[in-house]
Amino acid sequence: MKALVLAGGSGTRLRPITHTSAKQLVPVANKPVLFYGLEAIAEAGITELGLVVGDAHAAIEAAVGDGSAFGLQVTYLRQEAPLGLAHAVLIARDYLGDDDFVMYLGDNFIVGGITGLVERFTAERPAAQILLTRVGDPRQFGVAELDADGRVIGLEEKPEHPKSDLALAGVYLFSPAVHAAVAECKPSWRGELEITDAIGHLIESGQRVESTMITGYWKDTGNVTDMLEVNRLVLESAEPRVEGLVDVASELIGRVVIEPGAVVERSRVVGPAIIGGGARIRDSYVGPYTSIGASCTVTGSEIEYSIVLPRASIAEVGRIESSLIGHDVEVTPAPHTPRAHRLVLGDHSRARISS
Ligand code: TTP
Repeated sequence: MKALVLAGGSGTRLRPITHTSAKQLVPVANKPVLFYGLEAIAEAGITELGLVVGDAHAAIEAAVGDGSAFGLQVTYLRQEAPLGLAHAVLIARDYLGDDDFVMYLGDNFIVGGITGLVERFTAERPAAQILLTRVGDPRQFGVAELDADGRVIGLEEKPEHPKSDLALAGVYLFSPAVHAAVAECKPSWRGELEITDAIGHLIESGQRVESTMITGYWKDTGNVTDMLEVNRLVLESAEPRVEGLVDVASELIGRVVIEPGAVVERSRVVGPAIIGGGARIRDSYVGPYTSIGASCTVTGSEIEYSIVLPRASIAEVGRIESSLIGHDVEVTPAPHTPRAHRLVLGDHSRARISS
């Protein structure tokens, strides 16, 4: 079995971060979200991996290399434009040959790995096996319709009137039968070759498409809210360790990771939180569910429930919350603009004015 990991796409929902960087490289607890997927694939015993890349190919290649750090042999497959998930399968046709494969969306996050899924597929060998999860609003997902035995009888991409609340999560297992189905796909209304259409062709031609319900946690990290949520989840189980320098005037509370070379001075860090290597936290408060990237500086500020990418600096700006801050960003206070309150206050008034 091979793996096909999709790390192209346009990432419009994560702009402006994705103008200069791939969304699959946005760190969760200071590790690119893509790496969690690569680790899950290696853990399932798969070694050959095709990595579909688009415009951000250079950054992804620099981060993943030949894959040996993960125990994988990575082959890069360049997709000229994000023309859909089925288009990614189409361009990987030669690489995949006649092997079964797991297709994994590079910005998806699954707790509990994929080993069980791969084992079930290998034992039962349907034409395709999809992963489903119940969601509150299925209209923004691919939605599956099942028969009484859990077999998939229909799929719709982002339906206006969903037939169920079962959304497709970003892991699919395919036999080589999918290639003929992909070849039949025509661009959808959004101009993409949809994997849901390809699976639909498999169903129409009478082939077996099975489904598995996700038991653990799954998230597509395509937007900032979900990214922060996944960061929170991962930090919650981080092993606390202090490998950097924390002065006596500072306090660390709860699950806090201080990576080598980080310096914390006159500050309070309340976990779960991680401070990356070479970062400097001075006269500041770092609150729960915050990941501060390598070589960042935070001075005279408060930050909580946020992700800060490497080399950003935050100085004297009061409190920051629920934020995603890119590489090399500088956050500084605006120059003080003089303001005047003009008041006519009657006798014995009490006026409360924020300064
Ligand atoms: P999406 O999140 O569905 O698409 P996108 O990356 O274009 O994002 P947005 O909706 O914010 O514009 O893609 C899921 C994953 O698959 C993601 O890791 C990107 C990848 N992908 C490709 O590699 N090629 C493609 O043609 C598409 C559509 C996605």
